[in-house]
Amino acid sequence: MSEARINITKTRDITTPTYYVQAIQTEFKDFAYDEDRAVELRGHWRKKSFGVDDGNWPLDLEIGTGNGFFFAHRAQAEPGRLLVGLELKFKPLIQSIRRALKAGAANARIARYHANFLENLFSPGEINHVFVHHPDPWTKRSTQKHRLLKAEYLIKLHGLQKADCFVDFKTDSREYFFWALEQFKQTPYIFERYSENLHSSEWSGENFTTFFERMFLEKGQPIFYLRVRKAVAQ
Ligand SMILES: C[S@@+](CC[C@H](N)C(=O)[O-])C[C@H]1O[C@@H](n2cnc3c(N)ncnc32)[C@H](O)[C@@H]1O
Repeated sequence: MSEARINITKTRDITTPTYYVQAIQTEFKDFAYDEDRAVELRGHWRKKSFGVDDGNWPLDLEIGTGNGFFFAHRAQAEPGRLLVGLELKFKPLIQSIRRALKAGAANARIARYHANFLENLFSPGEINHVFVHHPDPWTKRSTQKHRLLKAEYLIKLHGLQKADCFVDFKTDSREYFFWALEQFKQTPYIFERYSENLHSSEWSGENFTTFFERMFLEKGQPIFYLRVRKAVAQ
């Protein structure tokens, strides 16, 4: 689907901006980017956004940060890596970057951008690990076309990652999980971890429970988990 067909008002075109809309350009302008500023960083995130000269410095991506508990945790826990978040909604976007900064993380940035069009933000091989936690599952038949993790999209994402890097995908939706699994099978990714109940799996100890995940856990629902990896370059 082309960018023009996905009708999301650009930040600059919002006629009555809330505090959260304005904060991207004011209070958090050094750490948060609207669509226009974000695309200027394509291919140069390390240097232009983080001031890091080393092109091999790890740069990870979280798609759909929500209110940013994982985003802040990850940035703080991994000071030797850079972390870029993508979020469409203004309030969670600002909550995410504020939470990370409050936690003392200097290695976090966030952009307001539709994740479908990642190729406008990153050049081939620019990204290391990718986190997609509880993306909107779009379970109604008429809305399934909005699902993010389509095979075509995953192949694009694969091209934007460095070799030997992973994608972590978690969801509370059984339907979305098995659908996405079929999509991943159509890509060059190598399957590395798989669980239909992450919290009773061997990876539960290292898992960070996100805000959405907690809501579903409290209802007694299992969390589905997949890790795939881009093969080491030969
Ligand atoms: C269900 S929430 C999950 C949030 C968080 N990852 C968690 O686990 O708590 C999905 C988030 O993704 C954001 N989102 C949905 N579609 C997106 C897109 N195409 N690009 C960027 N963010 C998106 C939504 O605004 C929402 O905050």
